[in-house]
Amino acid sequence: MKKIITYGTFDLLHIGHINILKRAKSFGDYLVVGLSTDGFNTIKHKSSYHRYEDRKKILEAIRYVDEVIPESMWEQKEDDIVNHKIDTFVMGDDWKGEFDYLSSICKVRYLPRTDGISTTKTKNDLKKGL
Ligand code: CTP
Repeated sequence: MKKIITYGTFDLLHIGHINILKRAKSFGDYLVVGLSTDGFNTIKHKSSYHRYEDRKKILEAIRYVDEVIPESMWEQKEDDIVNHKIDTFVMGDDWKGEFDYLSSICKVRYLPRTDGISTTKTKNDLKKGL
């Protein structure tokens, strides 16, 4: 069984999230999502609308997602990849090059982001009453 991993905050779910999860899953049989905890979001200077437990339940309800694990620090990726026997690490190409150091333990793929949508944009648009 080929296992894939990807990471993110996945707050205010949108089509860009679904596209990357679907494409990530298409590279293998089992998709693990490392979901940023609320504490890790604070470290990243992000704040999510939905709390971790709710974002986790929402992700688990998506057909492409097989398992959600907490992402609570930058340095955990190598351990996650080894412990979960991951074949391919996937991120959006906004992270291009950042995780090339993982290529000694698994395949690393950056996928093109979906144009014109992000959680931040959704929040800003709603604030403007759009
Ligand atoms: N992603 C994507 N296309 C988008 C938005 C996000 O492919 N339009 C991908 C990111 O590259 C990442 C994953 O979805 O691999 C989770 O991204 P996340 O940061 O949670 O989503 P954003 O909508 O970018 O959130 P924010 O605006 O808070 O940064």
